[in-house]
Amino acid sequence: MIRSTLLLVACMGATFSTTTSAQDLRPLPSDTPLVIGHRGASALRPEHTLASYAKAIEDGADFIEPDLVSTKDGALVSRHENEIGGTTDVAAHPEFAARKTTKTIDGHAIEGWFTEDFTLAELKTLRARERLPELRGTAFDGQFQIVTLDEIIDFAAAEAAARGRVIGIIPEIKHPTYFQQHGLAMEAKVLATLQAHAYTRTAPVVIQSFEVANLKQLHTLLGTTHPNIKLLQLTSAPDEKPGDVLAAGGSQTYAQILSAKGLREVATYAQILGPSLRSIIPLDAQQQLGKPTAVVRDAHAAGLQVQPYTFRPENYFLPKDKREGDAPATRHEAGSIAEMRAFLDAGVDGFFTDDPALGRAAVDGWRKP
Ligand code: G3P
Ligand code: CA
Repeated sequence: MIRSTLLLVACMGATFSTTTSAQDLRPLPSDTPLVIGHRGASALRPEHTLASYAKAIEDGADFIEPDLVSTKDGALVSRHENEIGGTTDVAAHPEFAARKTTKTIDGHAIEGWFTEDFTLAELKTLRARERLPELRGTAFDGQFQIVTLDEIIDFAAAEAAARGRVIGIIPEIKHPTYFQQHGLAMEAKVLATLQAHAYTRTAPVVIQSFEVANLKQLHTLLGTTHPNIKLLQLTSAPDEKPGDVLAAGGSQTYAQILSAKGLREVATYAQILGPSLRSIIPLDAQQQLGKPTAVVRDAHAAGLQVQPYTFRPENYFLPKDKREGDAPATRHEAGSIAEMRAFLDAGVDGFFTDDPALGRAAVDGWRKP
């Protein structure tokens, strides 16, 4: 299977033209924590649109993050989940009304419209909507298309050339087992797409997944021939299991992955750990930042970098001691920066934030304790 996948990667790569090279651009700092624009600058623009990625880059993100799902015709598009009712205007398109359905994704029954039931051309007729309108407003709804990984790479390459600095791309493969089971596996296509663009043949790229088996497969496929591409193991709630483990009836939980032994195993196929914030610094009984766990220390001991998710500036998401007033939608920028700096003090090597300008401020004004 691996040999045929490699052949697919090689063939697909040969058919694409090249884009801007990253080799002459100012590289990412190697000794400074990295700021990752989570779904772009999703606190300020509808997530996973070029406008969101543009804002992230303008605001100083080192990396931009596309989450990837597949269309019916196998295109890789940037959405946080394959159900698109929550983040597009698909419900307002009568021509797609009959495609509303209920599916079981990673063990959860979900009702809505699903990317794998649409061609790329059909998805291009939709427009993005804000996921959290009650917190972030709707000023940009209806303006922006769903975009492909190809388009995002071209955009990042053009922005990098215009700004004279490298912009990393950190795609996450969403619901890997689900798409594999539906004949729409994304892993080889992601590699082929990266290989097809001159920019991503040299620029920093990190591929993320909440699953384990596909990262191990990617590790094998990459071998030692793509030094610019790293792999990141995401972890979720301690008692949950990765989708591939769940599908195989396995017992491995994220708590086991986050143990010292589990992290040493992760380091055999990935270079970076992406835990949730609360796996690094949990909240105490007062909903304030508590004491750091052993995860950063154990991950570093295993040779892994640590890049947790996700810092968000609204009161609703902040620890109680970092909020301003009680209104959930109030942005408390100083509180968010203070929260990020607590994590920098705890030793993280980078982080995902919905508001990269605040992430940039947190890193640029921080000194290692
Ligand atoms: O990939 C880091 C973070 O984005 C993981 O959570 O659900 O926002 O994709 P999610
Ligand atoms: Ca993600």
